[in-house]
Amino acid sequence: LEELWRKADLARQQNVGGEVHLRGLIELSNHCVRLCGYCGLRAENSGLTRYRMFEDEILHCAKKAVAFKYGTVVLQAGEDPGITCQWMEHIVRRIKSETPLAVTLSLGERDDEELAAWHAAGADRYLLRFETCNRKLYERIHPPRHADKPSDRIAMLATLRRLGYEVGSGVMIGIPGQTFDDLANDIELFAKLDLDMIGAGPYLPHPDTPLGAKEQSTTISPEEQVPGDELTTYKVVALARLACPGANIPSTTALATLNSQSGRELGLVRGANVIMPNLTPVKYRALYEIYPGKVCINETADACHTCINGRIHSLGRQVGSGPGHSPNYSSRN
Ligand code: 5AD
Ligand code: FES
Repeated sequence: LEELWRKADLARQQNVGGEVHLRGLIELSNHCVRLCGYCGLRAENSGLTRYRMFEDEILHCAKKAVAFKYGTVVLQAGEDPGITCQWMEHIVRRIKSETPLAVTLSLGERDDEELAAWHAAGADRYLLRFETCNRKLYERIHPPRHADKPSDRIAMLATLRRLGYEVGSGVMIGIPGQTFDDLANDIELFAKLDLDMIGAGPYLPHPDTPLGAKEQSTTISPEEQVPGDELTTYKVVALARLACPGANIPSTTALATLNSQSGRELGLVRGANVIMPNLTPVKYRALYEIYPGKVCINETADACHTCINGRIHSLGRQVGSGPGHSPNYSSRN
C-alpha cells in the first residue's frame, strides 16, 4: 500500500500539480422524484422536510464563492422537476454573467434538451456518478424513472461529452452486493470513459432507505463483498489516479464523514486534488441528508472555508486559482 500511495501521489503531482482546487457546493434542492434504494432524498422518505433555494440565495452563495476565491460552484440537487429547464438556464446565465466562476451542474438524470440548454447558457461541467458498472446491482438499487425506460447513465455521460461539457462520474464504495471484481471494472470504466472528474466515496447506510434499513441479503459471499470503509476508499482514489492521471479527483465529504480528523488530508496525499467546501446556507444543510452523519451540517460557509484552507496549508499544498479544468478536457478542446 505504501507503494500505491507513493505512485498515486506522484502521478497526481506530475499530471495535475500540487494545487488543490476548491469547488463551492450549493445544495439547492432536496426534492427528488426518484427512489434510489440508498439515498436519503428518495421520494418516499416522508420524514424529510423538503426545500428549494430561492434565486437570490443561490446568487448570494455564488458571490461568497467568489469572495473565497473558489474557481467553481457546483449546483447540486435531487431530481427535482421544480427545477425547470428555464429556471436553471436563468440561474446559470446570471452566475456566468455576474461572476467569473466555472459552473458545474449535478442535477441527476435530465433530458438531452435540458442538458443542451444549460450548456448553451454557460454551464461548464456536469457530474453524474454511474454508481456501479454492475448492471444487475445498479438496477436493484436504482429503479428507473419510467418503468419502460431503463436508467442509462453511461449513455447520458456520452451525451454530456458530445454537448461539450467537462464530464464527471464516479461510484459508491461498499454497496451491499458489490464485489471486488465489480469495483475493478468500475476503475477500468473510469479510464474507458476518459473522465475529467472522478468522485468515489464510501457507501454510508441511511436508516430511512430500503438499502440501509436492514442487513442486506445478497447473493455474493462475505469475502467478495467490498467494505465501505476508509482504507478501501483510499485504494480506489489512488487507483483512479493511476487509471486517469489527468482527472480532477475530490477527497469527498463521505470520506470526511468516516474520518473527520484526517480523511480529507489522507485523500489529498493518495491521489486526490480537489475539495468541495459546502456553501449551502446553514438552515438547509441538515436537510440535504443523502446519508447520515454528514460533516459540517452546523457549520457556516465561512467556517468551512477557513477549515479547508487550514487543512490544505497543513499539507504544504497551495489552493488552486482559476477554474481548474482537467488537462484531459483542455487537451480535447
Ligand atoms: N452513501 C454514500 N453516498 C451516497 N450517495 C447517495 N446516497 C449515498 C449514501 N447512502 C452519493 C451517490 C450520488 C451522490 C450525489 O451521493 O453516489 O451520486
Ligand atoms: Fe466544514 Fe471543516 S470543512 S468545518
